[in-house]
Formats: sequence, structure tokens, C-alpha cells
Amino acid sequence: MGVKIQYFTRKHLLGIAGLEPPEISELLDLADTYVESNRSPNKKFDKLRGRTVINLFFENSTRTRTSFELAAKRLGADTINMSVSTSSIKKGETLIDTAMTLNAMHPDLMVVRHGDSGAVQLLSEKVNGAVINAGDGYHEHPTQALLDALTIRRSKGRLGGLKVAICGDIQHSRVARSNIHLLNIMGAHVRLIAPRTLIPSGVREMGTEVFHDMREGLKGCDIVMMLRIQQERMQGNYLPSVREFFHFYGLDYEKLSNAKPDALIMHPGPMNRGVEIDSTVADDLDRSLIRQQVELGVAVRMACLEKLIGNLDQPGQGGA
Ligand code: CP
Repeated sequence: MGVKIQYFTRKHLLGIAGLEPPEISELLDLADTYVESNRSPNKKFDKLRGRTVINLFFENSTRTRTSFELAAKRLGADTINMSVSTSSIKKGETLIDTAMTLNAMHPDLMVVRHGDSGAVQLLSEKVNGAVINAGDGYHEHPTQALLDALTIRRSKGRLGGLKVAICGDIQHSRVARSNIHLLNIMGAHVRLIAPRTLIPSGVREMGTEVFHDMREGLKGCDIVMMLRIQQERMQGNYLPSVREFFHFYGLDYEKLSNAKPDALIMHPGPMNRGVEIDSTVADDLDRSLIRQQVELGVAVRMACLEKLIGNLDQPGQGGA
């Protein structure tokens, strides 16, 4: 038997930009192998026994933090959740001093979320182990894009050639950026639908089509990915009112009828019901993939942890 080629050999997962299609496919294929075991009574493996994973979240999270913790535990790793609100960060300790302190305890991998774009990259340069970006500012949220890709691939059988509409607050969304990169790399067609105030500059150069009329933008789409309106990141008047935003850009059945008849709906969560998405559409089990996205997030994070910690053991990677 020949030796299996390994495509994803990086030390860190800081973003989707720059990844090659076989690297993404390899992570998705590995994640696929965990979906059934995660549904079974016996979910545990010992592939990462003896390894340590630290979750360091400077911003709130329900899905990402919980699924990384579950993923690490299901692979047999020891997991620590650093609570920023009760840590010495509250006494003024800097990001880098915090990272160096945790690094001295020899974690194999740190999962980091931070409000500043680029902060996770900076931290990765200071520690010995692997680092996964769990969301940095407006920049990237790579494991969200990977779980979205796995959800689409399992529902539609492929990524290449699909028309995917990403709708809403694109300006403030790291989820949108990571998804634009991944969908482009994998050969899907990306449409962005939002008011002018919520479209960042430079997105057309990223290979997307931009629409300000939602009905027009949804025509012929296979996937409708809604984004959360991120009021906490908005300074200034981005929206006339929530009511008006829903009227023009909130997903309801009437607007959805412009997409393909078998179009499926996604949302990374947390959702603002009645703002970017109508509740009945979000909860429609025939059309909405939102529950599957959360479920598959655990499998994707298991694959990322396994791959990155495995890569530390390769010569020249300088493990923890
Ligand atoms: N989608 C996402 O990142 O959700 P959380 O903020 O709950 O982790």
C-alpha cells in the first residue's frame, strides 16, 4: 500500500485565504468521518490522549467555544476554558503576556477568539504550539467557513458550481470573509446582497457579484446564507431602522421564492429573529440547515484539532 499524501501540513489555522482546494477537501473529508460517531452513544476516541487544548476567548461565544471543547474531549485531549472575565486580563495583563503565560504550561494547541483583526496571528508568532483562529475582528473565522462548507457539501453533494448568496451585514462579518474565500477556492459562485452601507470596499476584487436588491440577487441561488446584524460593532448610522432593514433584506418566504425551488437556508448564529430572518423560515426543517451547521461544527473542529496536533509531530514543526 502507498503512503497517503497529506495536503494540510500547516502549523496553524489562521484563515481560509491562501489554502489550496486539496487542503480544504482533506479537512472536510476527515470531518465527515466523525459525523456518525458524534450521533452514536460512544463518541470518544483516544487519538489526542495526553495532549492539551486551551480555549482562550476574549469575545463571547456559544457555538464555537462549546464545540471546540466537545471536539477536544471526544478526541481524548485535556481541555481548559480560559474565562477572560475572571483572568488576570482584567488586571491589565496584555494579550501577549497572557499567551506567553499559557505557553509556559506547554499546551499543544490554543483556540483563540479576539475582537481585533490580526490579534490571533500575532499570538501564534509567540507560542510553541498550534493556534486556531476562532474569529478575529472583521477578519476571518475559518472553522465557521469549513463547517458551512461541510454542511453544503453533505446537502448538495458538491461545492463547485453552486450559486451561494451571502446576505446582510457583510461589512462587519468575519464569517462572510472566510466563506467568500472558501467558496471561491472550491469553485462556487458567490453573490453578496446588502445595502451599500454594509458592503465593504474591495469585495468585488475578491471575485463576488454584489446586489443591493435582494429579490434580484437571490434569483437562481442554491444556498441563501444569512448573516447576523452586528449592532455591537456598528458606530454610526449603518441602518435606517431594524424594521426597514427587515422589509428590504430580511429573509421571508416571499423573498426566498426568488431563489431555486430547492434552495437551502443557512445562518452562522446567533440569529436576530425578525431582523435578518423570519422565524418561520429559520425553523423550517425542509429548508433550513441551521441545526446541521451547529451539529457539523463539532466534526469539523475534531478534524482541525486532529490535523494540527498531528502536524506538530512532523519533523521541523517544533511541537509544544
Ligand atoms: N457562529 C459563531 O461563531 O457563533 P458563536 O459566536 O456562538 O461562537
